[in-house]
Amino acid sequence: MISSHPQIELVNLSRRFGSVRAVDEVSFQVQRGHVFGYIGPNGAGKTTSMRILATLDMPTEGDALVDGFSVTQDPERVRKRLGFMPDYFDTQPSILVEEYLDFFARAYGLMGPERMRAVRQVMSFTKLDGLRAKSIDSLSKGMKQRLCLGRAMIHNPPVMIMDEPAAGLDPRARIQLREMIGELAASGKSILVSSHILTELAEMCDTVAIIEQGRLLAVGTVDEIHRARQSHRTVQLRVLDSAGEVCNRLAARADLHSIRQNGEQIEFVHEHDQQFEADLLRDLVMAGCRVVEFGSRAESLEDVFMRVTEGLVQ
Ligand SMILES: Nc1ncnc2c1ncn2[C@@H]1O[C@H](COP(=O)(O)OP(=O)(O)OP(=O)(O)O)[C@@H](O)[C@H]1O
Ligand SMILES: [Mg+2]
Repeated sequence: MISSHPQIELVNLSRRFGSVRAVDEVSFQVQRGHVFGYIGPNGAGKTTSMRILATLDMPTEGDALVDGFSVTQDPERVRKRLGFMPDYFDTQPSILVEEYLDFFARAYGLMGPERMRAVRQVMSFTKLDGLRAKSIDSLSKGMKQRLCLGRAMIHNPPVMIMDEPAAGLDPRARIQLREMIGELAASGKSILVSSHILTELAEMCDTVAIIEQGRLLAVGTVDEIHRARQSHRTVQLRVLDSAGEVCNRLAARADLHSIRQNGEQIEFVHEHDQQFEADLLRDLVMAGCRVVEFGSRAESLEDVFMRVTEGLVQ
């Protein structure tokens, strides 16, 4: 039976550490088979929320539900339904890849042929087949990351929580990871994945939430978030001799913001159309400014992220 309720649900989730509001009334839902990106700068509250979902920490207020079960009321059921991939790989004694996965399969109560099948399937999915007899302390970062994913999915949970799985991976490994996440979602799993990098998640997520200082700043599809801010355009120009003066002239206007100067280069943001830019350029030239380059573009996703989060860190 296909469940219609959200597979992951945060309901006014809050976690305080003393006076720090690490997670501050965060609510969102992830539906079955969806990949949800959780994006925010260092200290935003991503790991804290994920640890609560994984039943490793408790909310101060609010709740988190996995497949309809509450982390505070029903942590045992939550654990059975969820695979957590933390952002670190704890150092382990030197056991072999296959033994390691087998150990976790046992821990989840898998027995006999079922356990062997689970280990084999996971090794095949994470491309660890060739490394089955390798000691885990000799694995590279990328291999460890795949093993960590294998460990998290050994009991075939419907929900996966992945804390910065792409950190430290080379481009090829990132593509592999993206493909694996896509396959997991296609098989019906719901995935919450965090990152600092919006563009990295944009390619694999159906929906993203931007979080900062514990608060959700924007939730939606990447297109929705982008479109909501698309009226912002960034203009770059280069002027000879008088960049400082031009900057002052631009700063005096109320319809421009985020003005930055680097030598002859000037950059600013506005919320109007290209007609506005043409008029502005004409005014500058008429005022004697020696503009030699002038270009503009709609805000990129990275610009959106920078603007939405303002780079604030607790
Ligand atoms: N155990 C703790 N005790 C006190 N403060 C904590 C604890 N864990 C997290 N915090 C604080 O909660 C806030 C959120 O931290 P969290 O680790 O959730 O952020 P994050 O978004 O995962 O950041 P990063 O991108 O650096 O991993 C930070 O201000 C952090 O200092
Ligand atoms: Mg973190």
